[in-house]
Amino acid sequence: MTNVNISFHDIYNTCKDDYYDIIYGLIKSKQKTLSPKYFYDENGSSLFDKITNLDDYYPTKKEIEILEKQNEEFYNILPANSSVIEFGSGSNKKIKKLLNALDKPNEYIPIDISREFLFKNAKDSAKSFPNLRIKAVCADFDQINDIEEIISTKNSKIGFFPGSTIGNYSPECAKNLLKKFAKILGENNFLIVGVDLKKNIKILEKAYNDSEGVTARFNKNILNGINKISGAIFKEENFSHRAFFNKKKSRIEMHLVSKKKQTVEIFKEIVSFKEGETIHTESSYKYSIENFKKLAESANFDLIKVLTDKRSFFGIFFLKVKSF
Ligand code: AVJ
Repeated sequence: MTNVNISFHDIYNTCKDDYYDIIYGLIKSKQKTLSPKYFYDENGSSLFDKITNLDDYYPTKKEIEILEKQNEEFYNILPANSSVIEFGSGSNKKIKKLLNALDKPNEYIPIDISREFLFKNAKDSAKSFPNLRIKAVCADFDQINDIEEIISTKNSKIGFFPGSTIGNYSPECAKNLLKKFAKILGENNFLIVGVDLKKNIKILEKAYNDSEGVTARFNKNILNGINKISGAIFKEENFSHRAFFNKKKSRIEMHLVSKKKQTVEIFKEIVSFKEGETIHTESSYKYSIENFKKLAESANFDLIKVLTDKRSFFGIFFLKVKSF
């Protein structure tokens, strides 16, 4: 039987938002930056998928292992008959594990900006869970107000924010984002967050400098995404990949390093690069359990439980919205 209970909502406003985002990052700020959300065009999403399977990249494997091996914890702690809202849905592997672990989930709402992946995955989930109502929402999960209208529901809600996507945000922005999630979810509802934990620097740096060079390709591919949106002609071969752990800020930084002096036209403006100048394409913050607990508590959540793998490489945090 196929699921007839599936609906699609498209509220991602590409053009206007992206223009300001890109121009601001490349021209108006001293350290050139691009938002990591531009990694995920179709090619980027499939490169990321490859990354998650690399020996050097542990986070995805560890997170899935926790979901699999400790599935009883999810069943025991989280309420039955809930609506599950996934912020940034990416691959389908994790949500399937979560939905299987839960007691009679009755609705699944994936939210993602990558339209093709979102719709394809939503259909695939519909096949695997024929009794589940599915509302796929193409949106940036920062568009909180618009999302709020679509996902309003009387069921208890479980937010799911896996993959350490939270690590892409500075602690200050992560706090604001968590506050928005708390508002969407409402008091006493749960948020399950996957967080990459602080560890040996060699292991961290290897995960972003993998020996097969997939992360380098992923990093450079952001330029193709920008070219598509803006009509610019960034050439991948004029940039090299750099990733390192910034100890003071407790984050991996990924940069694209300009191999030479060059200019690139974008939205009719000129971006000029010195040799060695970089575009900061991603930050991936790493937390201790204690620090993430503090962050969550400052954003209207209580920490109910943390599950980790044996070596504490990765943490799945069970947060509950405080009652007001
Ligand atoms: C999807 C943001 C969690 O930071 O590890 C993987 C993205 N970048 N390799 C991460 C990523 C380079 C990933 N997140």
